Amino acid sequence: MEKRNKGDRMLNRREFIQLTALGATALLLERALPARAQTKKEAKTMSYTAKDYAKLVGMPGFSETLLKNHFTLYQGYVTNTNKVLDTLDQLLKEGKTATPEFAELKRRLGWEFNGMRLHEYYFENLGGKMPLDRNGKLAKMLADSFGSLDGWEKDFKGTGAMRGIGWVVLYQDPANGRLINFWINEHDAGHPAGGTPILIMDVFEHAFMLDYGLKRADYIEAFFKNVDWKAAEVRLK
Ligand SMILES: [Fe+2]
Repeated sequence: MEKRNKGDRMLNRREFIQLTALGATALLLERALPARAQTKKEAKTMSYTAKDYAKLVGMPGFSETLLKNHFTLYQGYVTNTNKVLDTLDQLLKEGKTATPEFAELKRRLGWEFNGMRLHEYYFENLGGKMPLDRNGKLAKMLADSFGSLDGWEKDFKGTGAMRGIGWVVLYQDPANGRLINFWINEHDAGHPAGGTPILIMDVFEHAFMLDYGLKRADYIEAFFKNVDWKAAEVRLK
């Protein structure tokens, strides 16, 4: 008769249940693995996609050529944001965080990312056909922060007319709700920490020179005629 080792003995009912339970757990884990892999894949595909602002073509005061050039420029920021993030990710995986390449790309990221995001805010607060509701929430808050609505407008336009290239951003300070017009030199310098952007105006030369030459004030007037005030108002906290 065949001798059985202790380990070869037949399974009793309890052991069988335990083992099958383990098997079921393993099976469940195996099923869960593709999902985990998918999650990882999703994280990798969190790249940015350029939005379509073609509906702005036809806005009074903005030529089609100027707008289309501007959209192309914006798309470049989206592409470069993805490239910089991907390259930084790669450098991290290769353990190269102490390299000059990593440091320079980290510095570059704010420029490309904000170049993308600020253009999105800008295009999204354009295309409006209605004037600012002077009894609405935004108008009241502007008057509270600047003494009057006209005071805010003068301050915003004056900031936009400053020499140099950049952005004018009406920011809301979430600490006390105050609205402040900021001059943003280029894309990545001058933003108030924690601020909520409410209204954004691009005053880089590409935003107006093709249509207005050096007459920046005329561009600013055209911008004001096309502000989507509702889009700005919903950004208020
Ligand atoms: Fe721009």
